[in-house]
Amino acid sequence: ATSIPADDRVPDMEKRQLMNLLLLGAVSLPTAGMLVPYASFFAPPGSGGAGGGIVAKDALGNDVIATEWLKNHGPGDRTLTQGLKGDPTYLVVENDKTLATYGINAVCTHLGCVVPWNAAENKFICPCHGSQYNNQGRVVRGPAPLSLALAHADIDEGKVVFVPWVETDFRTGEAP
Ligand code: FES
Repeated sequence: ATSIPADDRVPDMEKRQLMNLLLLGAVSLPTAGMLVPYASFFAPPGSGGAGGGIVAKDALGNDVIATEWLKNHGPGDRTLTQGLKGDPTYLVVENDKTLATYGINAVCTHLGCVVPWNAAENKFICPCHGSQYNNQGRVVRGPAPLSLALAHADIDEGKVVFVPWVETDFRTGEAP
């Protein structure tokens, strides 16, 4: 490993940056004051502002509490919740009885039917034109052109929170 020796100029740099910050602050304070109410007006309540996440809702419209969910949903379970943009999204219970860190958007990538989970076949099978997806939502039979969309399923203060998936699709290695 290489170690970089401490740089004598750093304190000066910091001072200069501090000065710049103070100057900037003096100029932008009045603006910031006006922006805050503006911004909070548009942030939906409860969104937390963390990358556009939303709390998953169960069939009754209640927030999904992870521990409660796991009491009623066993290993391998895939049950619909309300996800991002109101899209029906499967919460997945892994074989070790934990919630998967991803949810599966149930909207068929062919023409948008909601795709039911078929536990006997261990697949999602679209009733509209027969597209099939494996148990992680990866497309295995057309006409659907793409796998079912993913969302992160995080847990925040005990609640399941869906966050948009913007990374590589771990099922296919493809860009989202
Ligand atoms: Fe699902 Fe056509 S909408 S196969």
